[in-house]
Parts: sequence; structure tokens; C-alpha cells
Amino acid sequence: MNTLNEEAVVIPLPDPRFKPVVRQLHRVAGEDPGLISRDSQADAGIDEAWLDGLADHLGEHAWMELDLSTRMPGGLLDALRNEVTILHKTDAMRRAGIGRGEELTRDRSVRRDQIVWLEGFTEPQAALFRFLDELMAGLNRRLFLGLKRYEAHYATFQQGDFYKRHLDSFRGRASRVLSLVLYLNEDWGLDDGGELRVFSPRDENIVTGVVRPEAGMAALFLSEEVPHEVLPANRTRFSIACWFRQDEVPLPLQAVVVPESFC
Ligand code: OGA
Ligand code: MN
Repeated sequence: MNTLNEEAVVIPLPDPRFKPVVRQLHRVAGEDPGLISRDSQADAGIDEAWLDGLADHLGEHAWMELDLSTRMPGGLLDALRNEVTILHKTDAMRRAGIGRGEELTRDRSVRRDQIVWLEGFTEPQAALFRFLDELMAGLNRRLFLGLKRYEAHYATFQQGDFYKRHLDSFRGRASRVLSLVLYLNEDWGLDDGGELRVFSPRDENIVTGVVRPEAGMAALFLSEEVPHEVLPANRTRFSIACWFRQDEVPLPLQAVVVPESFC
């Protein structure tokens, strides 16, 4: 893995689809995306007992709210927030779609956020990926979900944006298995809206939880089982949505392939 270089936070790649994002980050030269602590080069060192509790809870309830602020490397949340703030100010983010391939639509009555996929080539993204690698391995050892890879994107919900009730994966496709949404917003107040509302897997009209998108908080849930929605945000809301998948890497150079959008 790349060692942290004070000069170059962004590591450019020859792939043409990635270049625009790198350019966007460089263009806002005065704004440092932020450096994360050198400790983050080491394994995330996720606590085994914490993973045990997490696996138990997930097995029983199909979803849970998590506080990852003390579990992630120091400074990483700030670095990710700085990065998405810069991407948001440029035109790097695109309106998100629903469905995949031919069925992809950009229906603004269902979903209004803007996204950009993480590629893992900036230091904060690489550190996040190391954390996600460990989390995935730890959950696989406990829950036998057969998770093989993940995909992740930043999302911005601007004032008034929402995402209506949905599932992240269609039953039987066994692709997206586990969803993780990590929030990046400091001082998210009760009046700021934008909560994640989680519904019962057995009855989609019963609310089983509400998660405030405060920095470091996260929701983890079974993608095929747990209906959820994002209530309209009253201020700009930043998050990272991540899906752990059971299927194999579609192409050898998966990291530079722009993933398809999803439901
Ligand atoms: C999603 C999603 C929830 C959130 O992107 O599929 O449900 O709280 N996001 O941002
Ligand atoms: Mn979702």
C-alpha cells in the first residue's frame, strides 16, 4: 500500500474515467483534503469482541446502528468529509440512478441524491478500504455470509433531497448482501432532518429504527431484507454507502471499472 506522502494526497491513475475526479480534487488547490494519521497505515485492528457483538446483533435483528467514530483510524472521518466536501463543490458528483443496466432510471420522485464512486486511490479512501477489508473478513468468520468484495460511493443529499423506501438488493440475486452507510456530518441537529428510517423485514410499515446522520454513526443491515428510506434533509448531508457482495470481481481490473448504479 502507498505510504502517506505529505505533498501528494491524491495518487493519480492512468485510467481516463478516474482522471476527472483527480483533476477536481487538484483544482480546489487551496483546500487540503486532509491527512489521516500515520497509524492508519497499519491494520485497522478491529476489536474481536466488538465484532462478536456486531455479528450476534445482526444475526438476530437484521440491522443495527453503530458508532464507528472510535473504531476507525484517527482523523479518517475528517479526511473523508473534507474529500466529499471538495468533490461536492466541483462537478464530480452525478445524479444517482435506480435499477441497473438497461433498467437504470433517474427518477427524481424516488431518489434525489448525487453520488461518486470510491476507487481507493486517495489516502483516506485507501484507509477506509483497509477498514472495510477487515470488517468484511471479521464478519465472514462469524456469519458465513461469503462476502467477497464491496463497492462504495459518496452521496450528497442537498436541502430537500430524499430517498424513498427501498431495498438495496432484490431477493435471490445474492449480489448485494450487506449494506453499510457511514455518515460524515458534524453537529447534525434534530431540525436538520435527513434521518435514515429503518423498517421491519417482516412488515415494511413498521418502523424499527431511526438513525441520525451524525459523523461516525453508521447503519449496517442485510441488503435484501431491510426496507429503509432517507427523510428529506434540511441541509447538505454527506455519507458513504457501501455494499458487501457475494459475487466475484467481474473483471480483473475491477478497481478502475465504474460500477453500475443500483436500486
Ligand atoms: C442508499 C441508502 C441511506 C442513507 O444509498 O441506498 O439507502 O442514509 N442510503 O444515506
Ligand atoms: Mn439503500
